[in-house]
Amino acid sequence: MRSKKLLRYGERWLQSHPERELIVKKYLRTMEPGDRSHHGDGMATALNNVAGSAEVVFHVGAVSKTYQAGDVAVVALRSIELDLAAGEFVVILGPSGSGKSTLLNILGGLDTPTSGDVRFRDHWLSQAGDAGLTRFRREHVGFVFQFYNLIPSLTALENVSLVTEIAEHPMDPGEALRLVGLTERRNHFPSQLSGGEQQRVAIARAVAKNPDILLCDEPTGALDYPTAKLVLDVLARVNEELHTLVAVITHNTAIAAMADRVIRLRSGEIVEISRNARKAHSEELVW
Ligand SMILES: Nc1ncnc2c1ncn2[C@@H]1O[C@H](COP(=O)(O)OP(=O)(O)OP(=O)(O)O)[C@@H](O)[C@H]1O
Ligand SMILES: [Mg+2]
Repeated sequence: MRSKKLLRYGERWLQSHPERELIVKKYLRTMEPGDRSHHGDGMATALNNVAGSAEVVFHVGAVSKTYQAGDVAVVALRSIELDLAAGEFVVILGPSGSGKSTLLNILGGLDTPTSGDVRFRDHWLSQAGDAGLTRFRREHVGFVFQFYNLIPSLTALENVSLVTEIAEHPMDPGEALRLVGLTERRNHFPSQLSGGEQQRVAIARAVAKNPDILLCDEPTGALDYPTAKLVLDVLARVNEELHTLVAVITHNTAIAAMADRVIRLRSGEIVEISRNARKAHSEELVW
């Protein structure tokens, strides 16, 4: 059995070399299964570290979520430990039912954990009531889902304006549409737009309130290959130009190359967090 001292040394080393997570993971793979479970918690914490100079804005500590469906208790998340930094681009991967949407919804204040802490800057989301969560979502979070949820009787511009009217520090709606490349389509109704264009309007609507966080649950799930790439390019641009923390859930592992960090879930647990040395441009992705 490896000593705890060695593990502590490993954690300290990783803290000063956060880009070397992969090497540590290779080391973990060489450990016997018994050792791995014995030391698992400590290493998981070490792998969770954001880049050295980054400002941690999200802290998720020991978060578990159990849904009660009739007599059956479904454990959706187990002891999640995760820090996210301002301006990060993270991709969340995992099989169906592994807890991805549950985690994203908790980060976005749409759901609350059964136990554990969730903090965004000075907002303690795990302790907040409905009114507090609503305020948090309104001031800080933009959501993008697989289906666009646009209002059919409003034009693209009006769909975006609906949000900017109630936001604290909104962007000009026309500017948001420019960011997603849809200036020419501003007066079109959703039924007059392609799926990819509708998704870009949904992204414009989400970013128009200038959120700190953009949470996307399978944003390209309903799109074909070239359209998905356009939408991914828009997400990367929002992340770069506005410095928005972007988290994207996807089943498409190719998209992971665009991220700063990739979080893998399985059965409600984080099984791996890896860091890309370089973020790929959406044009480079192939699937
Ligand atoms: N409201 C709910 N009531 C009961 N169980 C739920 C509820 N929401 C989610 N679950 C269960 O929690 C688990 C995690 O669900 P979640 O939606 O987070 O998975 P996911 O990783 O997003 O899956 P997918 O890739 O299919 O979207 C699943 O077993 C699911 O059935
Ligand atoms: Mg889901």
